[in-house]
Amino acid sequence: MLDQLEKLYQDELLNCRIDCPLRGTTTIVKGHYPEQPVNIAFVGEAPGARETELGQPFVGMAGSNFEDFLKSLDLTRNDVFITNTVKCRPTVGFQGRKNRAPYSSELEACSYYLKREMEITDPKLIITLGNVPLRQLLKDKKASITHWHGTLFFYGRAKVFPIHHPGAITYNRKLKGVIAEDLKVLKKLITLQK
Ligand code: URA
Repeated sequence: MLDQLEKLYQDELLNCRIDCPLRGTTTIVKGHYPEQPVNIAFVGEAPGARETELGQPFVGMAGSNFEDFLKSLDLTRNDVFITNTVKCRPTVGFQGRKNRAPYSSELEACSYYLKREMEITDPKLIITLGNVPLRQLLKDKKASITHWHGTLFFYGRAKVFPIHHPGAITYNRKLKGVIAEDLKVLKKLITLQK
């Protein structure tokens, strides 16, 4: 499994030939996987500045909230697969300093990699973080995390549990309670499927 994933990254992703506006604009951030196979996957939106510097998902500002999510679930990075819907950093503004949400064309272009990652890792449980991965896996461009958070659906054989993006707490403190409740439910779900 891990060989196949690394092959996807080395042969295809890191040498990406898909026609995409983001291709070649930033460092590609592949998924993080531990040495042993795991059955829980987290899917974020897209890498930010720090992630492209370090080549790892969720190591910047949202990453510290993400670590809190993991802690509250009694998990570490060694227990889960972590990836993003889009593997390059979408930016806007002067010299591309600001992050932005990926455009439809970029989501479409990168969907191949997410699909392959999910086929290869075959997780039992996928936790989507925010609107972007929710819409991608649900195949509904208008779905809203405000409505869907904490609501299970299936992606192939995998259960998907959508929660708010860890970065969202930074600009909306009110979400803290909502997220805490979802994490409690998620913790039970993880215990049940172990
Ligand atoms: N936000 C994401 O969605 N993914 C990252 O890797 C970092 C921030």
